[in-house]
Amino acid sequence: MTAAGRGMRWPRPLSLAGFKSSSGRTLVTNDAVKMHTELPGATRTLPPQKSFYLKTFGCQMNVYDSERMMEALASQGYAETENLELADLVILNTCHIREKAAEKVYSDLGRIRDIKIARQANGRDTIITVAGCVAQAEGAEIVRRQPAVDLVIGPQSYHRLGELMTRAKQERKAIIETEFTENAKFEVLAKARKRSTPSAFLTVQEGCDKFCTFCVVPYTRGQEFSRPTAEIVAEARKLVDAGASEITLLGQNVNAYHGAGDSGSTVSLAGLVRALAKIDGLARIRYMTSHPRDMDDDLIAAHAEIPQLMPYLHLPVQSGSDRMLEAMNRKHSAAEYLALIARVRAARPDIALSSDFIVGFPGETEEDIAQTLDLIRKTGFAQSFSFKYSPRPGTPAAGLGQQIPDGVKNERLQRVQGLLEEQQMGFNAGSLGQTMAVLIERVGRDTTQLVGRTPYLQLIHVTGPASLVGQIVDVTVTGFRQMSLTGQLSTDIAAA
Ligand code: 5AD
Ligand code: SF4
Repeated sequence: MTAAGRGMRWPRPLSLAGFKSSSGRTLVTNDAVKMHTELPGATRTLPPQKSFYLKTFGCQMNVYDSERMMEALASQGYAETENLELADLVILNTCHIREKAAEKVYSDLGRIRDIKIARQANGRDTIITVAGCVAQAEGAEIVRRQPAVDLVIGPQSYHRLGELMTRAKQERKAIIETEFTENAKFEVLAKARKRSTPSAFLTVQEGCDKFCTFCVVPYTRGQEFSRPTAEIVAEARKLVDAGASEITLLGQNVNAYHGAGDSGSTVSLAGLVRALAKIDGLARIRYMTSHPRDMDDDLIAAHAEIPQLMPYLHLPVQSGSDRMLEAMNRKHSAAEYLALIARVRAARPDIALSSDFIVGFPGETEEDIAQTLDLIRKTGFAQSFSFKYSPRPGTPAAGLGQQIPDGVKNERLQRVQGLLEEQQMGFNAGSLGQTMAVLIERVGRDTTQLVGRTPYLQLIHVTGPASLVGQIVDVTVTGFRQMSLTGQLSTDIAAA
């Protein structure tokens, strides 16, 4: 399972154009917008409203960036469309973490080029923009492989999207913008947050200095950078005012957060969580993704002390073999990880743990995989993500000998995933009969069904009225599967 989540919207049947999007934004239905004038009964046809189509790949940080770009575009008069053929602007917000994700971008671009050509024949322009980590990593190579692309924009430059689009249109040549300019994007884009879902993302940190040998992030997102604390608290307040009761703090290495506080002080992630916990109406705080080396005592203590900090920790270990951990430059051993987990559990015994695993890293043996399975058994994860190692250009591991054949990777992945799925099932089974506080996030596919999250981030389906969306209600767990629970609203809420 990837963390693609809410941003994925591809492909959509054409007939969906004209409906409200999942985010509640009104979508463009036609080329021309009819409006009433001051004269009763009279209508006039306005010039067509510009519309954009945006597709998000990859992690929640891309989802956050996409939401900020959508807000900025809305303020420039663009409306969102889910129909590519109606889009004057197409943005692919891309992911470079594994080869598959990056290659998917090029196949999408081929299809979008065909639509651009068809629109051109009808005298309509389409600006094709590639944003995100593929843009940052591949720059001009994207335009070489797909000359229909007009704009390539790295993750640090989204605040310049409007200006760069205008330039691309005027100059009629592709613009490549991949500068690193730390906070500028946040200063400009985070201001607009006017509407929120009950559960919102907030990027607090970007980039990474860890240089795990398999990972492109230090190259695509650059050096680690933390946003100032006051700016984050202000954005969180806006989100709460706009309807959020849960905020997930995002960062590629979020627990390395060290933002500027008042009068020259530096604030850690624990300090930031404590500051956010003072916001009235912010019931739940989560954070991801963390590195084991940055899990300090204060953050562990925060899990014991701050009721708003949810009992869930995503702490990737990648492998249970010291030999592999060393080759991956993870900077800790398997025993150190287990000792850390013991400390976290001592502070918060019910905490749900999750992790990322990579199988088939160069030189990995059967013994290494056995050690990974052993670490999984010793830890007990509530959920996890596991991946086949994918060599990424420019990373040290891509140049190593002893690359593992794909068939072997597949077989190892199956074993690791099998055990992780069993553990997830076991964790969910343990919830049966418990009554938990559930944040109702949205109405389900069937309109009498609500979808929410338990404190342990389990997805839970309950029957109840749509008026409960955004509320935290008591739910008794009545059933479970590997990926979700079912439950019943406590009797007083159901009766109300
Ligand atoms: N190949 C496979 N998985 C990778 N990840 C990062 N880089 C690679 C790669 N080259 C995984 C790691 C990381 C998660 C976000 O993606 O497990 O924690
Ligand atoms: Fe990549 Fe995470 Fe390692 Fe940083 S800590 S290099 S983001 S895997």
